[in-house]
Amino acid sequence: MTTRPKVSVIGAGQVGATTAHLLALKGLADVTLIDIVEGLAQGKALDMTQSAPIEGFAGRVEGTTDFSAMAESRAVVITAGLARKPGMSRDDLLIANANIVGPIVERLARVASEAVIIVVTNPLDIMVALALQRSGFPRQRVMGMAGVLDSARLRAFIAQRLGVAATDVHAMVLGSHGDLMVPLKSAITVKGKPVARLIPAQELEAIVQRTQNGGAEIVGLLKTGSAFYAPASSVVAMVGAILKNQHTVLPVCAWLEGEYGLRDVCVGVPAELGAKGIERIVDVPLTTDERAALTASAEQVRAGMKSLAALQTSGRPA
Ligand code: NAI
Ligand code: 2OP
Repeated sequence: MTTRPKVSVIGAGQVGATTAHLLALKGLADVTLIDIVEGLAQGKALDMTQSAPIEGFAGRVEGTTDFSAMAESRAVVITAGLARKPGMSRDDLLIANANIVGPIVERLARVASEAVIIVVTNPLDIMVALALQRSGFPRQRVMGMAGVLDSARLRAFIAQRLGVAATDVHAMVLGSHGDLMVPLKSAITVKGKPVARLIPAQELEAIVQRTQNGGAEIVGLLKTGSAFYAPASSVVAMVGAILKNQHTVLPVCAWLEGEYGLRDVCVGVPAELGAKGIERIVDVPLTTDERAALTASAEQVRAGMKSLAALQTSGRPA
């Protein structure tokens, strides 16, 4: 019998369930899907299991409300959390999701102490810092998904504009997951050619702005939720690189200790992903403007981390 690595996905909502199904469809792992809502993870896992004879995958998908089922996971993906609702401030969301993610990570650290953590819950960069702090794991094993998604949105928009395959467009978005994300415009290529030769500057700028607004554009259309297909694909690309020890370079949210001139803050940077998690943070050349934008992005995350610490000490435990 083939032994497959085990991956746990916490939160059986839109992103979590789609991630679980993709992991199974691609034969990457046996999946344990966990949610606090009784029956939700169990029902979705059963449904996915019944797609196995049609799709031809052999891995197991289990659903549960028992968090000790994370034991022996090679990777744990955290999608549990709330989306921002009308009338909810950023601080309300911050504290609500910290109150969800913090205890999950503490439990995870006890039952799956060797796992790699991939955080998805927003506000992403601050939740990664929280996960690092609460797990006590080395920084190599705690990361966040955002850059793969933001880069994919940029690549998809450029491909649509030029009528080329999205896989022929190479682009990377660094920085925080939000308004201050940093698309590396100077490094975008299409079939090896610099994008500046193919799309006029003003039009490219509009595409970059659409990318920066990519999450909100989908929320505006869906009205009752946020994106989940491309986010789940992004998570699965990261999990695949880790499980297969691929050493692929992907933009991930990582804790920095001097890289890019930044320290003690989490932000999106290119990293080589392999069996140990973040095998190496990769130093790519940035223009002066890109470096300044990355610093501004990191400082915004640092302010968010301080704001969470202040909310925690003001009696709103997270
Ligand atoms: P959703 O509302 O569909 O699913 C969230 C799930 O978390 C629900 O099923 C809920 O029952 C569960 N949950 C809540 N508290 C829990 C707990 N303590 N333990 C286990 N499960 C718990 O939301 P969706 O669309 O799946 O999004 C999830 C999160 O991911 C949100 O914070 C969203 O903003 C974020 N997100 C981040 C992206 C990124 O690029 N980093 C992209 C897309 C979403
Ligand atoms: C997104 O970018 C909501 O963070 C989520 O779609």
